[in-house]
Amino acid sequence: MSERIIPLIDERLASLPARLPAVPIAATGHLTDRLQRPLSDLRISVTDRCNFRCSYCMPKEVFDKDYAFLPQGALLSFEEITRLARQFVAHGVRKIRLTGGEPLLRKNIEILIAQLAALRTPGGQPLDLTLTTNGSILAQKAQALKDAGLQRVTVSLDGLDDAVFRQMNDVDFPVTKVLAGIEAAQRAGLTNIKVNMVVKRGTNAHEILPMARHFKGTGVVLRFIEYMDVGATNGWRMDEVLPSAQVIELLKTELPLVQLSPSASGETAERWGYAGASGQHDAVLGEVGVISSVTQAFCKDCNRARLSTEGKLYLCLFATQGHDLRTLLRTQASDEELASAIGHIWQGRVDRYSELRASLPPDSTVGAGAKRVEMSYIGG
Ligand code: GTP
Ligand code: 5AD
Ligand code: SF4
Ligand code: SF4
Repeated sequence: MSERIIPLIDERLASLPARLPAVPIAATGHLTDRLQRPLSDLRISVTDRCNFRCSYCMPKEVFDKDYAFLPQGALLSFEEITRLARQFVAHGVRKIRLTGGEPLLRKNIEILIAQLAALRTPGGQPLDLTLTTNGSILAQKAQALKDAGLQRVTVSLDGLDDAVFRQMNDVDFPVTKVLAGIEAAQRAGLTNIKVNMVVKRGTNAHEILPMARHFKGTGVVLRFIEYMDVGATNGWRMDEVLPSAQVIELLKTELPLVQLSPSASGETAERWGYAGASGQHDAVLGEVGVISSVTQAFCKDCNRARLSTEGKLYLCLFATQGHDLRTLLRTQASDEELASAIGHIWQGRVDRYSELRASLPPDSTVGAGAKRVEMSYIGG
């Protein structure tokens, strides 16, 4: 029988107040933290629930029928999310990603997408609006998402082999339905579709080549992600991480690759293009990416802020506490005050966990006294 882990503190309850600075900080479209990193990417979690139980994210033993997910009244409404998002955009955010849990489980998500799609940057441009999904109900939803104004989508998929995939999602969900979801997204006209595969040595590494063969030449960009020590429940071990350098070596044994330059600053993925007969990158064959947050930290340019389902602002995926923006929202703060509070929080940011990981003791929780939040709660 497996042991049940009973957390002593619920890390979601521990939060920092969002203070209004004595001298207000106006949104100028360019906000930098203490390490001179701009704020340009906002990830918004719209639910902490998911219909999968991937062992690296929501292990069944912890996220069982007794697990206390957030109650409905705790969640930010779509209006609250959009109002906050508007202040982030005024500070320079150009990309918004909706995440979860599984974001397509949030009722009427299309309405939120339509509201966010209507936002404009200070220069009058629409945002890069995207969403990360496990693909389980994408086939049903793709067209409605596109119609609401979603431009692109990223689907998590950890293997092509049905048995491996069912084992990884741990709810016996068949791979064919996710593949159908990806095809539906393509048919609906969502562009720049990406597939994220978390690689765990000993579990799904043998799926790397089949996945690459499957998506090569389809227009879908496959990315291999190093299994990370996020949260406090997945029992992470370094020996289960397959370094990206080895993933690239393996791919090259069959599929010639050339390294491509980054398409944007602060990008998480290193890009590799499939080479054609000439040895040069052939755009028709497409590209793959590797995301190496364990072996090659990318905190130096990290421009990502994360807003939890109940309105806490997290400055790092590995943070132990978030800054409570919901209280401000619900106590009649003005737009200027919200922007000022966000500006103040970002200006104080020094987080760079992945860079520090190597020098931390193995059981460190960084800011002592609290547990790291789960990725299912603040989103990928
Ligand atoms: P695109 O604009 O579509 O390329 O998105 P992205 O590069 O931001 O990637 P995505 O949101 O798909 O993230 C892919 C994976 O990278 C996540 O699921 C995480 O595993 C990891 N990741 C993303 N952002 C961070 C980050 O800020 N820190 C760390 N350590 N890992 C991250
Ligand atoms: N390591 C790496 N990526 C993870 N994700 C969730 N947990 C982990 C982890 N431990 C990412 C995956 C998934 C997305 C929702 O979150 O990319 O696709
Ligand atoms: Fe759900 Fe994604 Fe976490 Fe898997 S990785 S449990 S699909 S949120
Ligand atoms: Fe950004 Fe934290 Fe990830 Fe580093 S570990 S890239 S600071 S979210």
